[in-house]
Amino acid sequence: MDNNISVEASATTKTSSGGAKRSSFSGKIGFVLAAAGSAVGLGNIWRFPYLAAKYGGGIFLLVYIILSVTFGFSLMIAEIAIGRKTQQSPIGAYRALDKRFGFVGVLASIVPLLILPYYSVIGGWVTKYAFGFVTGEMSNMASSSYFGDYISGVWQPIFWFALFMGATALIVLFGVQKGVEKVSKIMMPVLVVLMVFIIVYTFVTTDNIWDGIVYYIKPDFSKFTYMTFVSALGQLFYSMSLAMGIMITFGSYMKKEISIEKSTHQIEIFDTGIAFLAGLMIIPACIAYDPSQLTKGPGLMFGVLPKVFDNMFGGAFIGAMFFIMVLLAALTSSISLMETVVSTIQDKWKLGRKISCLIVFGTSILLGLLSCLGYSVWSEVLFFGKFAFLDFFDFLTNSVMMPIIALITCILISFFIKPSTIIEEVSLSGKFKQKTLFSVMIKYITPVCLVVVLVFAILEGVGVITV
Ligand code: PHE
Repeated sequence: MDNNISVEASATTKTSSGGAKRSSFSGKIGFVLAAAGSAVGLGNIWRFPYLAAKYGGGIFLLVYIILSVTFGFSLMIAEIAIGRKTQQSPIGAYRALDKRFGFVGVLASIVPLLILPYYSVIGGWVTKYAFGFVTGEMSNMASSSYFGDYISGVWQPIFWFALFMGATALIVLFGVQKGVEKVSKIMMPVLVVLMVFIIVYTFVTTDNIWDGIVYYIKPDFSKFTYMTFVSALGQLFYSMSLAMGIMITFGSYMKKEISIEKSTHQIEIFDTGIAFLAGLMIIPACIAYDPSQLTKGPGLMFGVLPKVFDNMFGGAFIGAMFFIMVLLAALTSSISLMETVVSTIQDKWKLGRKISCLIVFGTSILLGLLSCLGYSVWSEVLFFGKFAFLDFFDFLTNSVMMPIIALITCILISFFIKPSTIIEEVSLSGKFKQKTLFSVMIKYITPVCLVVVLVFAILEGVGVITV
């Protein structure tokens, strides 16, 4: 994340109250780095590997990559262009395009408010693991029951969640994002190098690693299920920060001469690249060490990686470094989530920054507590008979709300403002090479897929069908 977020709130307020000129990113690379900083986070390192492991390995990877260069590409282009064209944050942007569509902006703004609390619960897990590695608890953490015991506790998960949430809130409140983002910019390459090192080390030193590599890389079409598609699509929204207004806000700070198409490609490659590496680091190791964990879901990274580090020469140090880097990546994402919600509240209700921060912090603690205790005290509470609170918020945002927002955005573009409006905006900074792909995706393929996904996700969610 770069210099944008810190100017975001004030610039948004200025625009809405006085129409002053919006601040923008300084350089070409500034925009890409800022958007990539928001995009790269727990979605890539924690969420992608467990979904890939659970929903078919290689086939999930293949579906994800195809979706990313078609679907993700088109939606990201559309959102950035909407932001740059209207020069407004989501609520105003949708309204500016068509008065009747203002509600989409409102819906999009609710998504980060629902994600932030449970994102922080997982941020709390990462903080706990970083602390554990630093204080020499690695061997304990490498035992199979450690993670399960930890999340079924009460005070520990609450403590680490509150710590992560509190740190995010303090950073946003005191406006010191810039400092954190600078640190994270340096850390990002270190994280990549560390992941590559862990992958090479595991591959070289683990006997039966090959099966896992094949499982992750080679598509097995017999493993394709409807859930492979739905979960890959939900992951795409989540990972690329799409369908929640974030890219619209980013676009509104982008200068006209910077290429939307090129930037989108760069963000896409960066984001998918990190997710791919995370999968390569976790899935083969999981199959080699303890295949029973493969379909365990959200606990995958926490169950597998301590074992990997425990078997590694200097693993305590590498593990500590790794979890600290992941913590930073998570923090830059949670800051960007909270910043978005805070500036929306400031704008919408004309409230001060402090009080807006307090409202968001309070709401997030309350909602986050549900997710936190959903694996312990309230583990009996299961939505539709299967979702604990955290999984429910995850399902609601990624599989229901985001597809709805994306669908309405496609309808708005196809039938009301027409794809040419977006194409014109993108063409301001040079030829739009893939405009045919863009139009076809936005007009036909994306809406049809989204309707199918939504119908199935809801039927599956409420238990009418099992797929
Ligand atoms: N894309 C981020 C991730 O992969 C999550 C996120 C979504 C962050 C929206 C900010 C805004 O972790």
